[in-house]
Amino acid sequence: MNLLSVDDLTKEEVNEIFGIADNLKNGNVEISLKDSVLALLFEKPSTRTRVSFEAAMAQLGGHSIYIDSRTSQMSRGEPMSDTAKVLSGYVDFIAARLYKHEDLLELANNSSIPVINALTDLEHPCQALSDLYTMQSIKRKLKSIKFAFLGDIAANTANSLMLLGAKMGMEVSLVGPKNYPPNSRYFTKAQEYGIVKVYDDPKEGLSDVDVLYADTFVSMGEEKEAERRLKMFAPYQLNKKLLDYAKSDAVVMHCLPAHRGVEITADVLDGPKSIIWPQSKNKMLVEKAILLYLSERSM
Ligand code: CP
Ligand code: NVA
Repeated sequence: MNLLSVDDLTKEEVNEIFGIADNLKNGNVEISLKDSVLALLFEKPSTRTRVSFEAAMAQLGGHSIYIDSRTSQMSRGEPMSDTAKVLSGYVDFIAARLYKHEDLLELANNSSIPVINALTDLEHPCQALSDLYTMQSIKRKLKSIKFAFLGDIAANTANSLMLLGAKMGMEVSLVGPKNYPPNSRYFTKAQEYGIVKVYDDPKEGLSDVDVLYADTFVSMGEEKEAERRLKMFAPYQLNKKLLDYAKSDAVVMHCLPAHRGVEITADVLDGPKSIIWPQSKNKMLVEKAILLYLSERSM
């Protein structure tokens, strides 16, 4: 079994992963990845995802190996399919952060071990799972929680959050520029699961919202478009004014890395409604739960 998309999991399976995370938090799970090895195959930079997966494996009794595309034979064009077959003979899991989602599919299709999406151009499923776990911990439920994603509503993070949010019963608002639609495949699918709406007016889109979420305006791989994107998304900066449109007990999230003064202001990021640091900390807990879940399923 792989985790390539949040849609690889049913609602019940998501709750199962959250249950493992709860047990881990309460110290109720025995370390069970002794001698297992995770390969972290990364084409793009990472701080949180890399370190949290490496620390997770160490704490679960296993090991991890970071493989950077620049210093491996990936830099010389070795096909993803060959890399997949070779790594499958050495390690027990692969977590891959790749530019193209189709390369991840090629990797997974040629691997005989579980492959985890650690971010592609289309999705960031571990982030979304961890973020919903955080929302549930803080709001005590997910059903009918009003969630708003601001800015680049067609980005990987938005795709995974809208799909998972709708699947888990949240009411999702995508708040971004008028002529900038969400990814149609993800949007259509998410609408099949639940309530997902698009707004270009922040006041309307954020009214009565419980959770506000920001991500960078310029995702990795889109640097050439930076100038246009910074201008286009500027009205959707998560600042005090926009925060005031939401519920009085609304919380603020950001997957990080953040750019203070661009997609979010420093006073909001570091302010009393921010749950960004516990959100970031939970990544490791949920990644541990994902690894344990996949390991059990793959036996
Ligand atoms: N949120 C996240 O995936 O961070 P990194 O890019 O540092 O891994
Ligand atoms: N949308 C961002 C997420 C970073 C964790 C990116 O792809 O760069």
